[in-house]
Amino acid sequence: TSILILNGPNLNLLGARQPEIYGHTTLADIEAQCARKAEAMGIGMAFEQSNFEGALVDHIHAARGAHDGIVLNAGAYTHTSVALRDAISSVALPVVELHLSNVHSREEFRHRSYIAPVALGVICGFGAAGYALAMDALAGHLDAGG
Ligand code: DQA
Repeated sequence: TSILILNGPNLNLLGARQPEIYGHTTLADIEAQCARKAEAMGIGMAFEQSNFEGALVDHIHAARGAHDGIVLNAGAYTHTSVALRDAISSVALPVVELHLSNVHSREEFRHRSYIAPVALGVICGFGAAGYALAMDALAGHLDAGG
């Protein structure tokens, strides 16, 4: 089993970016936590980040055949991108949508997700700990034959 953990725009600035909303953990810290967790779970993991919508589409395409599922924090593209949603539908891999913040307690424009209707499920509001929750959820789904 192998999973791709894919991060969208502005998440490279985690730790410095609006820490009152997103916390003090950097993306490098999160990557290290995910790598340790994947090792403990006995699964493979790749971790990517891009600020470019098309590059994220390419990462989703490349996951086909290379990974069994995706944890996706698409950042603001969650709320805007038909292209990312179509990419997910095109590769037919299970996707867990993830957000550090509770998007439902924030601005109205963050309440709509183009990803959620084609996702296995959504985890939001648990900060950096959400990555581990999403990995467990995805691995559990894959173990069950998903
Ligand atoms: C986010 C929530 C999005 O609304 C926002 O645009 C982000 C980060 C989160 O992880 O909480 O960039 O995906």
